Amino acid sequence: MADTSYSYRDLQDHLKELKKSDLLWTIDEPIDKDAEMHPLVRWQFRGGMAEADRKAFLFTNVVDGKGRKFDIPVAVGALAANQAIYAVGMDTALEDISAKWGNAIANPIPPRMVNSAPCQEIIWQGSELIGEGKGLDALPIPISTPGFDSAPTLTAANCVTKDPDTDIQNSGTYRCAFKASDRMVIRMATRVGGAGGYVHWQKYKERGEKMPCAVVVGCPPYVAFTGPQKLPIDLDELDVAGGLAGEPINAIKGKTVDLLVPAEAEVIIEGYIDPEVLEPEGPFGESHGHVALEEFNMPFEVTAITRKKNAVIPSYISQVAPSESSVIKRVAYEPLFLNHLKNVLGIRGVQKVALHEPLTGLLRVTLIIMDKGVPRTEIWRALNGAASFKGDMGKITIAVNDDIDPDSADSILWALAYRHNPAADVQLLSHRSQGHGPKREHSGEEDGTLLIDATMKEAMPPLALPEKEYMEKAKALWERLDLPPIRPETPWHGYSLGDWHSRWAEDAKRAAEGDYLENGKRTLARQQKSPDFKPETSVRQIEDGWDEE
Ligand SMILES: Cc1cc2nc3c(=O)[nH]c(=O)nc-3n(C[C@H](O)[C@H](O)[C@H](O)COP(=O)(O)O)c2cc1C
Repeated sequence: MADTSYSYRDLQDHLKELKKSDLLWTIDEPIDKDAEMHPLVRWQFRGGMAEADRKAFLFTNVVDGKGRKFDIPVAVGALAANQAIYAVGMDTALEDISAKWGNAIANPIPPRMVNSAPCQEIIWQGSELIGEGKGLDALPIPISTPGFDSAPTLTAANCVTKDPDTDIQNSGTYRCAFKASDRMVIRMATRVGGAGGYVHWQKYKERGEKMPCAVVVGCPPYVAFTGPQKLPIDLDELDVAGGLAGEPINAIKGKTVDLLVPAEAEVIIEGYIDPEVLEPEGPFGESHGHVALEEFNMPFEVTAITRKKNAVIPSYISQVAPSESSVIKRVAYEPLFLNHLKNVLGIRGVQKVALHEPLTGLLRVTLIIMDKGVPRTEIWRALNGAASFKGDMGKITIAVNDDIDPDSADSILWALAYRHNPAADVQLLSHRSQGHGPKREHSGEEDGTLLIDATMKEAMPPLALPEKEYMEKAKALWERLDLPPIRPETPWHGYSLGDWHSRWAEDAKRAAEGDYLENGKRTLARQQKSPDFKPETSVRQIEDGWDEE
């Protein structure tokens, strides 16, 4: 059909691309989606594997806790088990993702309407939604945290709603817990910086109307990635996905709701949310790394399920970070922070913003990597700017220089240990909302903000490891001797931190070439007889010729 031609990938094209790039494991033996699937994939996040070694999993033979078989395969980790997988989904190199997001947000492309679509090849309505093995119960949705979760829960969903005043759609990734073959409960975060869908829900509640909603499962990657992205509420995610694709995303009207959905999605669950009704949802293992306890959320009455004949269902693995959920958010959020500091606030010397991932889960700890020698006033503007950019992020915000690895807690503690003075380089701010975290059951309780300038305030002596060329040659030697494999950890070589002199560099070179006796002769000539200063006095205080170079 002419009007549906497109060149972006749908989920199944994306899986083929992952296979080609050796980023996909296919598991053909029967796997229990309720008790085995997520724990199995979890091991690649908690089993000491390097980030680069993680892959997506495609389960082709899915069963449930009762041994029931499903005809739909399930993909876990397929959008963001690691950054390389995300980059395949974005069809670009990792280092270009930031610019691609910036361009798409600045230049959104509205969708192209089509009259028929793969996502509506099969349509279930009415009695086809009722009963065991029908409706939602026919979809192989895994349990994410067996032992804690109370329901199979959709995690890889883009939940589409529409502002009843402006007709502008929003699409956010919110979890949906299955309750019956025709009912699930959605959780839209009510906190500041939470779900755009909740803003719509409030409007429908005020009008006394039910809210139409389409939960899109298995979007083309460009569309999927817009679900967790923090976009302004009045910027339609389908338009931004078009910006990412560089062409309009094909869209079709839902069968029972007046909403536009991506035509090449795998499965779409259509229905209505009655804002006058709430139902208990959870417990569910959350991305802040704790179990969200049972709370009232929004029941969603299903009016239709539409799907491709040969649909594949994705499931994001979330909970304790790192996880697919933290990778998908990290790659999307860090460019937003950098753009805000550099281009909106115009702060000089900001190189990068890193959201700390393992266990803390991105939202709590922000690292700002600054050039050396940037005025303190700029560093403090960056600290305040990053901490206030999003209402639910940046509780602990730390500025460091670019030799500090923001992904290494050791490295961060090293900066704190040697480069900041707690009495002078720390500020505490009041009045932060609790943000996304384990509920404390004390409504209204406020949190605070900790800002730390852990950048170097002045030149320091070099890092005491052999210089890079010696370490590189030694690595080649290590490998030639067939010693066990090593993984270099930053910092793995010494380097100048500003306080160093060419005379010492020459002495060091001579020593490393075996000529230490020559150095000894030279220091003999510099001996001081009957000195009027004590040992440990710097040569620079006594001798001439040590002026800065
Ligand atoms: C796996 C995953 C699950 C998520 N679950 C929820 C959720 O249940 N509720 C929620 O409000 N946000 C959830 N989020 C975060 C939102 O997707 C994110 O805040 C996004 O910006 C929301 O889009 P919106 O601003 O259009 O609402 C989740 C994100 C991911 C990656």
